[in-house]
Amino acid sequence: MSFNIPRGTQDILPGESERWQYVEQIARDTCAAFQYKEIRTPIFEHTELFARGVGESTDIVQKEMYTFEDKKGRSITLRPEGTASTVRSYVENKLFAQPAQPTKLYYIGPMFRYERPQTGRYRQFYQFGIEAIGSKDPAIDAEVISLAMSVYEKAGLSNLKLVINSLGDKESRADYREALVKHFEPRIDEFCHDCQTRLHQNPLRILDCKKDRDHELMATAPSIQDYLNDESRTYFEKVKQYLTDIGVEYVVDPNLVRGLDYYNHTAFEIMSNAEGFGAITTLAGGGRYDGLVEGIGGPESPGIGFAMSIERFLSAIDAEGIDLPLQDGIDLYIAALGDDAKDYAVSLLNRLRKEGISSEMDYTGKKLKGQFKAADRLKAKFIAVLGEDELAQHIVNVKDTTTGEQIEVKLDELIQMMKAHKKA
Ligand code: HAM
Repeated sequence: MSFNIPRGTQDILPGESERWQYVEQIARDTCAAFQYKEIRTPIFEHTELFARGVGESTDIVQKEMYTFEDKKGRSITLRPEGTASTVRSYVENKLFAQPAQPTKLYYIGPMFRYERPQTGRYRQFYQFGIEAIGSKDPAIDAEVISLAMSVYEKAGLSNLKLVINSLGDKESRADYREALVKHFEPRIDEFCHDCQTRLHQNPLRILDCKKDRDHELMATAPSIQDYLNDESRTYFEKVKQYLTDIGVEYVVDPNLVRGLDYYNHTAFEIMSNAEGFGAITTLAGGGRYDGLVEGIGGPESPGIGFAMSIERFLSAIDAEGIDLPLQDGIDLYIAALGDDAKDYAVSLLNRLRKEGISSEMDYTGKKLKGQFKAADRLKAKFIAVLGEDELAQHIVNVKDTTTGEQIEVKLDELIQMMKAHKKA
C-alpha cells in the first residue's frame, strides 16, 4: 500500500523551506517596521463565522469550504481566509477597548479552499495577511497597500502592478446594484447558472465571472465610478493622493470587484507582470470592510487589510529570476577517525552547538573520504580532523575550506577559534 499527498496540497521540503522562511521573515520585519503585531487564530472555526463573515453568496462559502461535523454534531470549517477569524478574535477579546488604536494585526498560516488545483492555486495554501481595524482614515488604506508593496519590493520583485478601485459606501453600492440588475436582468438567461443566482444576491460578482467575461453586456455594464456618492468619491481621491505622496504607483480599474462580500470603499489587487509567471497573476488582494465587525457582533469598527499567497510570492521570485540570499553552509564539520575520537567528537560537537556554531559529524560509519564528501555537501567552512593521534596530543587539524589552509589547533581552543571566526 502506498500513500499519496491529497490533491492540491504540497510538501515543503528542506531546500525549499528555507525560501519560505526567508520571505516570511521579510513579512515579519516589514510588519515590525509598520507596527503590525502577530495574531494566531485557530485553523478551524464554527462554519457560521465564514457564512456571515465572508458572505453567503461567495464562491468560497457556496462551493469551496472544507466543512465537517465534529463528534458533538457542531458544524466546523477549516478557515478559507484570515479576515473573518481575525475580526472574530478582535470582537471576542475586546481588542477595540485597548488604548492603541487602530488595532494592527498580521498573520501567516495555512488556509483551505476546495478549488480546482492548478499552478498557483492550491487547496491548502499559505497566506500572509494584515488587518488594521478601528480607523477610517484614507491614510491607513495607503499604509496597508504600501506595506504589501514593500514586502514584495524587499524580496527584489519589480514587475508588479497595483490595481485599485472604490466600491463605495453602502448607499453608493445600493444604487450601483440596482443599475447592474437593470442592465443584466433582461438577458440574464444568456448567462451561466452562477450569474443567474448572483443577479439578486450580489450582482457585482457577475462582473467577476470567468465564464461570461466575453458577453457583450459585460463591456457595456455601468461603472461603479459613476455611482460613487460625494463622500465615497472624496475618500477614494484622498487614498489615491496618499499613494502618490508615498510614491506607490497604481492603476484604477473600475471593474475590480473582489470575490468576498465584505468589501466597500477601497479594493485592490497586486499582480505580477513577470514573463512566464503563469495564468494566475494575482499575488495579493485586499480592501476595506467597514461593517464587518458589526456583522460579527462587535462595535462599529471600520477595517482594511489584505492577504497574499506565499506560494505565488515565491513563484514570482522565480519568474523574475531572483536568487534569494539564503544563508548557506555550516560552520564546522568534525571528521572523526576511530572509536575514541568519535566519542570525544560527540561531546565536542554538543559544546560547539551550544555556543551557536552550526556543526555536524557523521552518524553512519563513514570512512574519512566519505566524511570529507559529507562536509563538502554541507558546504562546511571548516573541517576538523580528529584521529587517535590528535586526541592523544589534545589537538585537532582544522582545514579552512575556502583557502585550503590547514592549521593545528589545541582541542580546548577550538570553540574560541570558531567563535572568533563567526564574529569576523
Ligand atoms: P482573497 O482574494 O480571497 O482575499 O485571497 C487573497 C490572496 O490569497 C490571493 O490574492 C492569493 O494570493 C491567495 N489565494 C487565494 N486562494 C488561493 C489558492 N487557492 N491558492 C493559492 N493562493 C490563494 C482574502 O482572502 C481576504 N481575506 C484578503 C483580505 C484581508 N481582505 C481584507 N483583509
